[in-house]
Amino acid sequence: MRNHRGVIAEHYHALQSLDSINSARAAMAAEPGTRSALLIGLYQSVEIGLHNVAQLLDRAAGCLRDRDIAACAVDLYWVRSFHRVLVRLSLAARRVSAGWDDEAPRWTVDATPAFADFLGSLRSFDGELAHLADQPEIDLGAVIAERTLDDAWFGVLHCARTANHDARVWSANLAASVRPAPGLAPEQLLASDLVRQAVFEHQLRGHTYFTQFRALHQIPELLVREINDRVEMAIRSARVGDITAAVDVLDGAEELFDPIEACLPPIVDNLSTHDYHQIRENLGLTSGSHSVSLRFHLFTELYEQLIEAIAGRTAADGDHPLMPRLRRHAVNLNVFIFSWRDMHLHLPRNNLGGAETKSLTGSQDAVRTVRKMRDNAASNDPVARMEKRVQVPSSAVGPLVEYLDGPESSDGLLLTETGKVTQANFRDVQERLNVFSQPCPFSRPPRRVV
Ligand code: HEM
Repeated sequence: MRNHRGVIAEHYHALQSLDSINSARAAMAAEPGTRSALLIGLYQSVEIGLHNVAQLLDRAAGCLRDRDIAACAVDLYWVRSFHRVLVRLSLAARRVSAGWDDEAPRWTVDATPAFADFLGSLRSFDGELAHLADQPEIDLGAVIAERTLDDAWFGVLHCARTANHDARVWSANLAASVRPAPGLAPEQLLASDLVRQAVFEHQLRGHTYFTQFRALHQIPELLVREINDRVEMAIRSARVGDITAAVDVLDGAEELFDPIEACLPPIVDNLSTHDYHQIRENLGLTSGSHSVSLRFHLFTELYEQLIEAIAGRTAADGDHPLMPRLRRHAVNLNVFIFSWRDMHLHLPRNNLGGAETKSLTGSQDAVRTVRKMRDNAASNDPVARMEKRVQVPSSAVGPLVEYLDGPESSDGLLLTETGKVTQANFRDVQERLNVFSQPCPFSRPPRRVV
């Protein structure tokens, strides 16, 4: 099925090019659970980020040529946010690299295909900006001196200078990080062709943020695979009483929480309702809730089994000196999962709205559904059962809930207005017509039992 922009996705796996993501991970020259695997996943994520920045910079340069400064500013807001993700990836790489000795060769980030792509695009953008700076129509000094956030030219210059500094930071961090399997060329180590294919496999016509929407799913999808393999190893180790091994693999898994969380703010902050609506029909009957690795493996099945194994070990081996660290890992995983869910809630709120707005997959009220998924998980949380002091608060309680849900707050008003806009733009989704009259093709995957 197609619309005027291109293909309407058949399912989440295809939408996010998870075959390419899986192949890129399978091509890794390191076993899951090793420090090299952590670094390769981080560097592959950097490749995804750089291809996206390159695409955005090319478009931003085109906007400058066309003197569409407002559109250029929007592209650069996204660029700025992707640089923040790159910084966070590079910090994780530095932390992981601390496990090697000083002599270990360092990562040649500037020798990867995505870096070359990015640098070429940065050069063209800078050339375009420098050319404009020479024209009488714009006085960059006056923009910096006199304008502020309400002005598109200010947005362009402010994002460009912020992105330049962040680029200096992440590139230096990565160049100071370790190079795993130094005998392999960077593009072989990263399976760069497969990463590139994941980024560009699906394209839509027009000026949309579809590639970026996909990237901000693809990076978490890639990194969570390593987390899941490690949690599985930790479960096995904890069950047989090898607490040292369990702590060790979870130490590594934890390094990837921060980069995954870092992928939400770019989409929360930059994706306007309008821009999401430009690509919504092409998402078809899909949802992030069809992410087998995030929702089912990590958030549910492996999480429950890990906590069960830790609780069992506590009963059997409570005096082991590493037991407090193992239990700490359980709490950290709990905090990660729920902070991710809380941040993710912005997305249905901002892009779909309330007032019984249906999700693509047909949930009666998308925002209520996502809240319910979070709150049900919170009320059945295995860590909260094990550690009575770690209760996950329900989203329906707290000192501000009464005000925020009451008539004086702007919250209900904005949710309702957003919902009305969404329903008006997507009658087919709301009334389950045409593509959306079909049953959702997704069914619950077999449980990942360790
Ligand atoms: C505009 C962006 C997004 C919107 C509007 C959105 C909307 C939703 C909705 C409505 C659900 C509930 C299930 C349903 O009715 O289909 C959901 C669940 C979910 N989404 Fe998203 N989502 C967005 C972005 C993302 C991203 C970037 C990810 C990252 C991979 C993601 C991952 C998930 C997961 C894992 C769930 C299950 C939640 C849970 O287990 O608590 N979503 N999303």
